[in-house]
Amino acid sequence: MNREMDKELKLELKVLEKGMSIPYDLLLLADPAQAVIDEYINKGKTFLAYHSGELVGVVVLLPLGEEQLEIKNIAVQPDWQGKGIGRRLLQAVIIEAKRTHVKELWIGTGNSSIGQLYLYQSVGFELAEVKWNFFIENYEEPIWEKGIHCKHMLMLRQTLHRS
Ligand code: ACO
Repeated sequence: MNREMDKELKLELKVLEKGMSIPYDLLLLADPAQAVIDEYINKGKTFLAYHSGELVGVVVLLPLGEEQLEIKNIAVQPDWQGKGIGRRLLQAVIIEAKRTHVKELWIGTGNSSIGQLYLYQSVGFELAEVKWNFFIENYEEPIWEKGIHCKHMLMLRQTLHRS
C-alpha cells in the first residue's frame, strides 16, 4: 500500500506490528465487542492511518483463503469522519488487493448501517450474502442505529480478478 495516500490531507499508513498497542478506541467504533476484535486482530493485517503523527484511522484485513480477503474492521476517528479518509482507505485496500492478486474482497456490515452500505457500494462492493440474525446471536447487547435494530450481517463482495 502507498505509504502516503494523499497529497492534501497527508495520510501515512503503518502496519500494526506485534508489541504495538492495539487501538481499541478506534476498532470498537466499527465492532462493539472487544472479544470479537480479539479473535481476528492477531490473525489479520492491520493498517494504521496517521495524519501529522495523529492516528486517524484503522483498517483490518483478514485472509479468508488464498485468494479472498475480508475487510474485518474499518474505522476513522469521529473528529476525522466525513473528510474522505474512509473512502481512501477502502480504495487503498482495493489497489493493494489487486496488486497482490486477491480475487475477491469481502466486507460485512449490519443492516442498520445505511451510510456504510452506501460507501461500500460506491467503491464497487455488491451485496452477496446475508448472515441472518448474526448480531443477535453473536453480540450480548442489542445494537440499534437511528431506530433500526441491527440484526443481520450483510456481506458485500467485490470481484477483482476473474479466473
Ligand atoms: N452515515 C452517512 N454517510 C456516511 C457514513 C455514515 N455513517 N459513513 C460514510 N458515509 C458517506 C459519506 O457521506 C461520504 O459520501 P460522499 O463521498 O458521497 O460525500 C462517503 O460515505 C465517504 O465518506 P468518508 O468521509 O470517506 O468516510 P469516513 O472517513 O467517515 O469513514 C467510516 C467511513 C469508516 C464508516 C467512518 O464513518 C467510521 O469510522 N464510522 C464508525 C465505525 C464504522 O461504522 N465502521 C464500519 C463498520 S463495518 C466494518 O468495519 C467492516
